Amino acid sequence: MNNKIIKLGSFFSGIGSPEKALEKLKEEGIINDFKIEFFSEIDKNAIKSYCEIHNVDATLNLGNIKQIKGDKLPYCDLWIGGFPCQDISCAGKMKGFNFESSTRSSLGWEIIRLLNEVKEKPKFVIFENVKNITSKRFKETLNLFKEDLIKLGYSVFDSVLNAIDFNIPQNRERYFLVAILNTNAKYIFPKGNKTLLKLKDFMENEVDEKYYLSDSNYMKIEDNIIYLKNKKSDNIYEINIDKYYNGNCCGIDKNCKFHQSSRVYSELGYAPTLTASNTSENLKILVKEGEWL
Ligand SMILES: C[S@@+](CC[C@H](N)C(=O)[O-])C[C@H]1O[C@@H](n2cnc3c(N)ncnc32)[C@H](O)[C@@H]1O
Repeated sequence: MNNKIIKLGSFFSGIGSPEKALEKLKEEGIINDFKIEFFSEIDKNAIKSYCEIHNVDATLNLGNIKQIKGDKLPYCDLWIGGFPCQDISCAGKMKGFNFESSTRSSLGWEIIRLLNEVKEKPKFVIFENVKNITSKRFKETLNLFKEDLIKLGYSVFDSVLNAIDFNIPQNRERYFLVAILNTNAKYIFPKGNKTLLKLKDFMENEVDEKYYLSDSNYMKIEDNIIYLKNKKSDNIYEINIDKYYNGNCCGIDKNCKFHQSSRVYSELGYAPTLTASNTSENLKILVKEGEWL
């Protein structure tokens, strides 16, 4: 580690999760320190959260990336940009991110524009998006994107990583692209190991009673299948006990309209990818206290 303070420029900043990763690297002594030179976000709640989480002033927010002039940007060592994924994700209409498409995902090209405009290019740029960006449907656009980075003098490395291999009990595959401003650069992505941590390790000890089925009716329908009925609501959960112990998706909420959010996951396993679209009716995690029937 050297004494350098990494100057960071953050685009599509959201709540700044990559910034949290940098904080962790600092705690672990892998980097010395980093400083947020600017961020760019348009969502007012995200901006507020970003400022609170990273203890920075809202004046550092440059707002809409389309309005940013590259030649006015201060020098940064690292740019990070997890550009919008709505038009790439299988959960959306998959309109794509072609340069001319004007989709939200095509905003990723704004970073290429800024790299062309900036007085001194950052040494490193990291992009993040959904795994589907590597699918046949989007491969051509992704290749054009990478070619532009290469034309700008970057070596480009990309890979799909799963959070489950990096000590997070969530199956969450994401595409990462690392661009290094050196045509001879080498970079090898970490492989990670499947985490030994389970959802149980992340559960809070003190949880409001409203989340428990303490007043529930239990009904056994087969040796390893039970119904849990919550008296306070209409929810009926059909649980497969074997699957619970195996740490799998172990049941469904019979009355939930949405397939994905109807699933009940075992606390002894991993969560699936959490989506932003079904937050009001999200997946359930079964935490067992005491004995079954
Ligand atoms: C996929 S999210 C990025 C999340 C981020 N990586 C995080 O850690 O929270 C994309 C973000 O881009 C923001 N965004 C969308 N259009 C934008 C624009 N024109 N200029 C700046 N930010 C924009 C959205 O509000 C959203 O927060």
